[in-house]
Amino acid sequence: MPQKVLLYCDPGIDDSLAIIYALLNPEIDLVGIVTSYGNVDQEQATQNVAYLLDLANKQDVILIGGAKTPLSGEFTPYYPEIHGEEGLGPIKPPATIKGELLNFDAIFNVIEEYGEELVIVDIGRSTSLAISFNLGGEKTMNTVKGFYLMGGAILTPGNVTAGAEANFYGDPIAAGIVMDKAERGVLYPLNVTNEAIITPEMIDQIMVEENNPFQALIKEIFDYYFEAYQKLVPGIEGSPLHDVLTLYAVTTPQAFKYVEKVVSVGLNDGHLRGVSMADFRPKPDEEGNKLTIALEMDYPSFTEDFVKIMSSSISNLT
Ligand code: BDR
Ligand code: CA
Repeated sequence: MPQKVLLYCDPGIDDSLAIIYALLNPEIDLVGIVTSYGNVDQEQATQNVAYLLDLANKQDVILIGGAKTPLSGEFTPYYPEIHGEEGLGPIKPPATIKGELLNFDAIFNVIEEYGEELVIVDIGRSTSLAISFNLGGEKTMNTVKGFYLMGGAILTPGNVTAGAEANFYGDPIAAGIVMDKAERGVLYPLNVTNEAIITPEMIDQIMVEENNPFQALIKEIFDYYFEAYQKLVPGIEGSPLHDVLTLYAVTTPQAFKYVEKVVSVGLNDGHLRGVSMADFRPKPDEEGNKLTIALEMDYPSFTEDFVKIMSSSISNLT
């Protein structure tokens, strides 16, 4: 049976590739998508998701309107230089496709319907998931099988500041709430997602035969993202697909090595904003909500799977 997934996201190029990966993967059953601000604003994120679903003829996947700002209410910058003005690199989704949003509480109907058959995957800012804990309560939220969370950088450099990763930096209050409250939470921080490098050669392999409606789009948005990463990290051989790796982990958790730790997130507006911290000192069992944190991964297995899924036939789309 494919794994049922409720996805929180902010597409964004790597989010979009993650959605395409999920739609093409026969082991994933995407039952709903919560669209929020992050890489672009919430309206644009919704339009981008609606466009991808339309290409796949999967308009039956429900869309739920998520957060428009962080919990603090402040404005956070988008990153057009990495994701493009509209979030899909050079692609502008047709204005005719808007996407119909259900109200936020539809999240709790999905959780009630699927319970422990469902995993929640969050590849965006943590705001909407934190609000879900606030409105739905921990008991309801923790009836799901688990949470797969892309965020943080554990004792390793950040990507928006020296120490902070973009999802946690975007809303550190929300990230802290999720770290405290999500039971059976598995964290995929930059420690592993920065290693999830997809190269132009792998994209060329995906392009060899035209099998699904996404391939041309995959190449265009990847090329844009790769160009941006080459400026950020001179000499890099490809681009890290942070969000795709997190979806891959849903079907292949055994490809990672994990530790279990409590994770805290820096809240102040200085150097520590959004910085994630876990305590690696040898000491007796620590108090608090422990996350399972992925710190190493099997890179060849990820890239092989990525090329296979992204070049798979339309027949996987039911
Ligand atoms: C994360 O930040 C976002 O901009 C990406 O989509 C990814 O979810 C990486 O730090
Ligand atoms: Ca994202």
